[in-house]
Amino acid sequence: MADIERVGVLGCGLMGSGIAQVAATAGYETIARDVSKEIGERARAGIEKSLAKFVEKAKLAAPDRDAVLKRLSFTTAVADLKSCDIIIEAVTEDLDLKNQMWKELDGLCPPSTIFASNTSSLKIAAMAAATKRADRFVGLHFFNPVPLMPLVEVVRTVTTSDEAFRRAFAFAKSLGKEAVAAKDNSGFIVNLLLVPYLLDAIRAVEHGVATIPDIDKAMQLGCGYPMGPLTLLDFVGLDTTYKIAEIMFAEYKQQHYAPPPLLKRMVLAGMYGKKSGKGFYDYSATPPAVANLGL
Ligand code: CAA
Ligand code: NAD
Repeated sequence: MADIERVGVLGCGLMGSGIAQVAATAGYETIARDVSKEIGERARAGIEKSLAKFVEKAKLAAPDRDAVLKRLSFTTAVADLKSCDIIIEAVTEDLDLKNQMWKELDGLCPPSTIFASNTSSLKIAAMAAATKRADRFVGLHFFNPVPLMPLVEVVRTVTTSDEAFRRAFAFAKSLGKEAVAAKDNSGFIVNLLLVPYLLDAIRAVEHGVATIPDIDKAMQLGCGYPMGPLTLLDFVGLDTTYKIAEIMFAEYKQQHYAPPPLLKRMVLAGMYGKKSGKGFYDYSATPPAVANLGL
């Protein structure tokens, strides 16, 4: 099978823009698609900012930064990804939305194109089954922020071929990431363990166990975590976390995956975390202030 040269990315949000950045940095021609030109422009600006930090720290030479940006393009047309050798999907955590795009691309891409989803909680098989290439469908689960987090979970379903899995695994490593093989269970390895912890932190806020900053401080300093759980929730996105919790609860029917009512209230109020400017913290202040949740 042909080597991977051209990478397509569906979605230019938090994850899609990071995935596009690391693919272009690794030398791949990369095209990323989202619904509007403005979202693409915002993603490009974010990538430029991140690359500038790497240049500043001498982790990337200025001419290499320019080459990365040259390899990167943005589009609003799903069909523009049809000549890619691998397509990584990072759109909103919604199966119907994801499958709508996979179906369109399945009819356009050559048989050699590998389809990969960055889903946090859906089963890869539920997407593979919507296409005629279930043997060439994998999960490639990156972590936020993609340019800094070293791991990718490479997920095979019951139908993924050895060849497609091998290519996807090698591709993840070619991005400079560490790869682990995970089975196609909802949440794979990391979210199976991380999501109950994050949701329990919200329940701790609901129960008034301690203040928001003290819960964060306790887990950071008591356990050596780089971020407290409520800061991390703001960082991941409360809207995304809510969808993940609903999907994992529907899958496992275990209480520790159930979205806490406070999370739902915050999402309904448009408090998505850092990306919307407010979550457990209010990012309009420097440094961010604790948000008023009316508790
Ligand atoms: N690009 C380039 N550089 C960046 C950057 C980016 N996107 N973001 C931050 N940096 C740089 C900063 O400028 C900073 O540089 P200096 O050291 O020169 O100041 C450096 O990276 C470290 O950043 P910070 O000082 O802001 O913060 P930090 O030391 O806490 O590190 C972090 C940042 C790596 C994000 C760290 O806090 C961390 O590991 N947090 C936990 C993240 C995590 O758990 N992610 C997984 C989420 S779950 C998930 O992704 C799965 C899912 O399906 C939901
Ligand atoms: P995000 O909200 O930052 O970005 C989602 C993108 O999908 C947006 O740019 C949005 O415009 C696009 N989108 C929404 N509706 C669309 C539509 N109808 N058609 C096409 N595009 C549409 O979300 P994110 O955090 O980047 O998450 C994307 C995926 O990655 C999800 O499956 C999520 O579970 C997964 N994921 C998220 C994280 C995280 O920490 N946030 C980590 C790993 C995996």
